Amino acid sequence: MIRKFATIEQASRVAVKHIISLAQEAVLDKGFCTIVMSGGSTPQLTYTLLGEPAYAGQMPWQQSHFFWGDERWVAFTHQDSNYAMIQKAFLSKIHVPLQNIHQIPTGNSSPEAGAKIYETHLRDFFQANPLAEMKNIEEEITVPSFDLALLGMGTDGHTASLFPGSDILEEKKKWVAAVPEGLGSPPVARITLTLPVLNLARNILFLIAGSRKREILDTILTRPEEAKELYPAARIKPSGNLVWLVAEKS
Ligand code: 6PG
Repeated sequence: MIRKFATIEQASRVAVKHIISLAQEAVLDKGFCTIVMSGGSTPQLTYTLLGEPAYAGQMPWQQSHFFWGDERWVAFTHQDSNYAMIQKAFLSKIHVPLQNIHQIPTGNSSPEAGAKIYETHLRDFFQANPLAEMKNIEEEITVPSFDLALLGMGTDGHTASLFPGSDILEEKKKWVAAVPEGLGSPPVARITLTLPVLNLARNILFLIAGSRKREILDTILTRPEEAKELYPAARIKPSGNLVWLVAEKS
């Protein structure tokens, strides 16, 4: 489903309501929810709104677990940190139990080490919380199923830190992968969830803004096979629901 808006504010208010209703539904269903947060600038207003009294009161914070879809290889206090962006937007304003905040570690010896540590953390979480289903998508791999994954799309069609032409797009086993520096903006090394994990989310919500992405989005929606070869965002084909919220102006 795609919904178009004139402004990012209109799209963000719909996104917040979507997040809240999916979180409430998951908590009613199994007692907790698992949400993968997107980085970048587009979702910032959504996150800020989520922390505002008008919305915050509806969110089941104590039962909500926050994960990151990707992270830049910078300190948590760095201005480019996706964790820092979300910390500023609402984690600093709302009491979320520390054990519910599952940030991607960036203080280790290398992005590869950080990716391994995060994958182990995810495995431990999903094994400790069996109601947060894991599904066997192929003989040898079982993959976690998040209740909601929030995603953005770059002007090159990347999503999370899955960039065009990257070998990681073909990754079938790892849940988390390290991304070499030089890609994206900022061009730092990164850590990202892989397509098998993102595509098993029960709900995916893309939040996209700005006319510069319109052409890519049109290709993804109208010529998916062609788009798949060009744009990682086109490879997001969840087994669950996929919603695009598109704002004309960012
Ligand atoms: C990141 C994000 C990334 C983002 C896109 C779009 O770490 O940069 O996770 O995947 O969603 O780059 O970013 P904007 O929404 O800021 O255009």
